Amino acid sequence: MGYLVDFFSALIFLSIIPVSNQLNEFLYSGFKDAATNITLSGVSEIQKNGMLRLTNETSRLLGHAFYPSPFKFKNSSNGKALSFSTSFVFIIVPEYPKLGGHGLAFTIATTKDLKALPSQYLGLLNSSVVNLTNHLFAVEFDTVQDFEFGDINDNHIGVDIGSLKSNASAAAAYYTGDSDSSKQDLNLKGGKPIQVWIDYDSFQNVVDVTISPTSKKPKIPILSYHVDLSSLFEEYMYVGLSASTGLLASSHYMLGWSFKLNGQAPALDLSSLPSLPADHKKQHTGLVIGVSAAIVVFVIISISTAIYLIRKIKNADIIEDWELEMGPHRYSYPNF
Ligand SMILES: *[C@@H]1O[C@H](CO)[C@@H](O)[C@H](O)[C@H]1NC(C)=O
Ligand SMILES: *[C@@H]1O[C@H](CO)[C@@H](O)[C@H](O)[C@H]1NC(C)=O
Ligand SMILES: *[C@@H]1O[C@H](CO)[C@@H](O)[C@H](O)[C@H]1NC(C)=O
Ligand SMILES: *[C@@H]1O[C@H](CO)[C@@H](O)[C@H](O)[C@H]1NC(C)=O
Ligand SMILES: *[C@@H]1O[C@H](CO)[C@@H](O)[C@H](O)[C@H]1NC(C)=O
Ligand SMILES: *[C@@H]1O[C@H](CO)[C@@H](O)[C@H](O)[C@H]1NC(C)=O
Repeated sequence: MGYLVDFFSALIFLSIIPVSNQLNEFLYSGFKDAATNITLSGVSEIQKNGMLRLTNETSRLLGHAFYPSPFKFKNSSNGKALSFSTSFVFIIVPEYPKLGGHGLAFTIATTKDLKALPSQYLGLLNSSVVNLTNHLFAVEFDTVQDFEFGDINDNHIGVDIGSLKSNASAAAAYYTGDSDSSKQDLNLKGGKPIQVWIDYDSFQNVVDVTISPTSKKPKIPILSYHVDLSSLFEEYMYVGLSASTGLLASSHYMLGWSFKLNGQAPALDLSSLPSLPADHKKQHTGLVIGVSAAIVVFVIISISTAIYLIRKIKNADIIEDWELEMGPHRYSYPNF
């Protein structure tokens, strides 16, 4: 009898362990050692230098990276969504300096296997999803202005709930101080690291999004949206990153990523994260130099040809038809 009780208490004890031990945070300080504990899909891959590349510069690609196991996002005693916080650092390198495509997003979803499309769908949704049955939460960093989704410009941040039509959006910028006048524009596709902080406070029911070109978190978020995520979330949800390319394409890189439920996400330090290999830029510089040189040569040849032709025409005698028939009747004189 005693053994049986012990057996059952042991069973109960064992079944409790995973719950009390439940993971509620993670930190990828670079992705070098992450290959075994991150779920990649689409074209995303971990590069030798420890960067996670979600897409390269080829058209119409998508890439996902999800934390392998789901998190318990709801308090089972009252059904309320828990507070969460995440931080990550990205670099977007567009194929053409001023034209990026399409963008990236942080997402919280019911599955790691999103049946999604690239281009304007950011690898998050597809064209057949028109209502909120998908429980999708996302914060997008969008480098294309899609009129279909009412985008404000081609360099914005948006909070998306169940749809890519953002519930709130703001032009990409950050505050260097604590006044409105300290606001600085920031180019998402500038080829430089940008750090992001997304914080959901379940007491205030507000999502704050803050970005910066350094690891110092600005005091004022660039976007604050009042929403209670309790009805959107299921009990268990996956957290992930997504990016897509369209007709225009960018390479979307992640340098580091952290997350925590019910608390502040572990800090990321830009100086200890992987950096973009120099040859990526060189390739582009090489191409630009090559193209520029070709243009210069073409222009020089065109101008020389034009000058030669103009001289020739100016110096040429006008020979009329009858003269050709009758033979030359005129002699040329040197130009004065
Ligand atoms: C991934 O796994 C390694 C080895 O098991 C561990 O050291 C690391 O903390 C894990 N990283 C995350 C983000 O879970
Ligand atoms: C980008 O990735 C895709 C899929 O992995 C590959 O087919 C393509 O060749 C790559 N493009 C470049 C420019 O490397
Ligand atoms: C869940 O809600 C109960 C009652 O409101 C509260 O006492 C508890 O601290 C909450 N748990 C978490 C993990 O937030
Ligand atoms: C579109 O997305 C929904 C919800 O994620 C999914 O059920 C459906 O299969 C997808 N459709 C296609 C054509 O991929
Ligand atoms: C919403 O989604 C459900 C389930 O996919 C579908 O049956 C319903 O028709 C959709 N509603 C609209 C307005 O399309
Ligand atoms: C967010 O936007 C979607 C689509 O525009 C809308 O259906 C939904 O009600 C909005 N959610 C909230 C909480 O306002």
